Amino acid sequence: MARWGWISRALPLALATVSVPMNGSAASAQNAATAPAATPPMGWNPYNVFDLDYGEAEVMAQADLLVKLRLADLGYRYVNVDDGWWLKREGGTIHVRTSIYPSARLADGTTSLRPFVDRLHAMGLKAGIYTDIGRNSCSQRFRPNTPNLPEGSVIQREIGTYGHHDADAVLLFARWGFDFIKVDACGVADFAADVPEVRDGKFRAFPPLIARERPNASDAAELARQYAGFADAVRRAVPGRQPLISICAWGQADVNDWAHRYGQMWRTSFDINAKWDTMLANFDSAASRALFAGPGRWNDPDMLEVGNGDFDGEHLVAARAHMAMWAILAAPLILGNDLRRLTPGLTDVIANRAVIAINQDQAGNQGVVVSRDGDGQVVAKALATPGHKGVALINRGRKPMTLSTGLADLGLSPTAPSTIRDAWTGGAVRAVNGRITVALAPQETALLVVEGQPLERGVSLPADMPARFHVADTGYKAPDRTPMRQWVLAQIGFRPYGEPLMLDGRQDHAGIGVAAGSRVAIDLARRYRKVTLDPRSLSDQRGRFVILGDGKVLRQGTATRTAQPLSLNVRNVRRIELLAPPAAEGTTSFAWHSLRFER
Ligand code: GAL
Repeated sequence: MARWGWISRALPLALATVSVPMNGSAASAQNAATAPAATPPMGWNPYNVFDLDYGEAEVMAQADLLVKLRLADLGYRYVNVDDGWWLKREGGTIHVRTSIYPSARLADGTTSLRPFVDRLHAMGLKAGIYTDIGRNSCSQRFRPNTPNLPEGSVIQREIGTYGHHDADAVLLFARWGFDFIKVDACGVADFAADVPEVRDGKFRAFPPLIARERPNASDAAELARQYAGFADAVRRAVPGRQPLISICAWGQADVNDWAHRYGQMWRTSFDINAKWDTMLANFDSAASRALFAGPGRWNDPDMLEVGNGDFDGEHLVAARAHMAMWAILAAPLILGNDLRRLTPGLTDVIANRAVIAINQDQAGNQGVVVSRDGDGQVVAKALATPGHKGVALINRGRKPMTLSTGLADLGLSPTAPSTIRDAWTGGAVRAVNGRITVALAPQETALLVVEGQPLERGVSLPADMPARFHVADTGYKAPDRTPMRQWVLAQIGFRPYGEPLMLDGRQDHAGIGVAAGSRVAIDLARRYRKVTLDPRSLSDQRGRFVILGDGKVLRQGTATRTAQPLSLNVRNVRRIELLAPPAAEGTTSFAWHSLRFER
């Protein structure tokens, strides 16, 4: 009885989700061309280069250059304002700081960013703005000496959207016409009652919903509720228009589990800066989460630093590597440099069509980490045509290296003919004995486009279709699952803490390592005939697994070391769901080995 109890408890849950519309579901994948953020958003944001010291003049100068340099034609269209545009909130309405946004001063004494937005729109660009899900902004708490902080009484300085969702959504989207908003979260993280400025009465206390790097001390449910409230308000303000919502909760409070419902992109880490190691840490925070991304829902490792610091015109190898890594991840490409200081070399880095095409490929698959050995890392991104992949071979270190990957490890036939070219130069690359090998300078990434054949005709593997996966916010949660020490509910080829997923002594690139008790859905969209998998578990896990097809049980059983491979008839099934056995003593993870999807 106890054994079955879990299944009957899980079933209604699973059934309930079948009808829940999710961003990036089968429907939105089919409508990829029309869905909001069908491909990763591209644009420019001032924060990385100007910090908080900029205004309309600087932003417009960059907007002009996006157009003049034809970067807008390549897709860089969103011009996003960051922290610091506001003066105060009065009578419920936010007033613009007209000393830095002069066009916002209207004849009747009120302020409006409509003229600013109209100018951007007239240039063929889109306009983005910034708020905080709490009452106060990051700069108010952390940058007391920065110019452009809100002014007035405690209440007037509450320029965040908490308690004002509807009014702000109407103002920013219906009246001013913005197309994008970054919704930061310091207001719900950094204004606890014991913060000195709060104790001194400078700000009202906000009991934190995010305890930084302490997921179990965070209130993810309430945080999600706040973002849901904001997203609903935006929907009400401009029905049918769907401005993009960028959730900036830095990978905290299990944001990956819920953000896809309320936004099109979400940060997976704290702020990037123009240092190589920080860039790598931000890359890693998103790289392990390929199964959470797809059209309309993107992992965001933060804005680009190409052109700045370690990635400036003197460091083009590192600049290309950074760009290649964001491209292969299907990360939003939001430039963060001063376009007035672009060199021809840097222009080539941000404007390479083949590189952008990998990022913007319409299938919307994030690149999947194939291998990591010391400083060498291989990431492959399935492109829309079966058998075509973008492949990044990354030297993370400061010494030269030779790096190699087998076509079979990329899910491609090692013997069928393939065409391989360098995305940067267009130059041909040859596979020898089914392997691609490159010599890499320190901090160099080779970015290749491989046009090969699938390993098996008519068969897709998980890494061919990560955008079809949806990881539900269930399952065992490790106590220290933070961006720094990652625990990822589901990953292709790796266990939740990042160890390679092994089967018969080799890494199982077609398997997914998951948390115990997790639920992973896969949109089949009635395109497949048969799914096969191997339910051998990683550990001596003996709990029962369940596989649902459109909410009905297709198979259930006990995972053991010797269980036979399963073959499931999925003709006409829209979605299957894999329910892993619950956590038991000593077992916190599970594996769905060797998944194959036959057409
Ligand atoms: C941070 C955010 C940055 C930037 C900054 C502005 O929380 O992660 O990207 O927006 O606030 O103060």
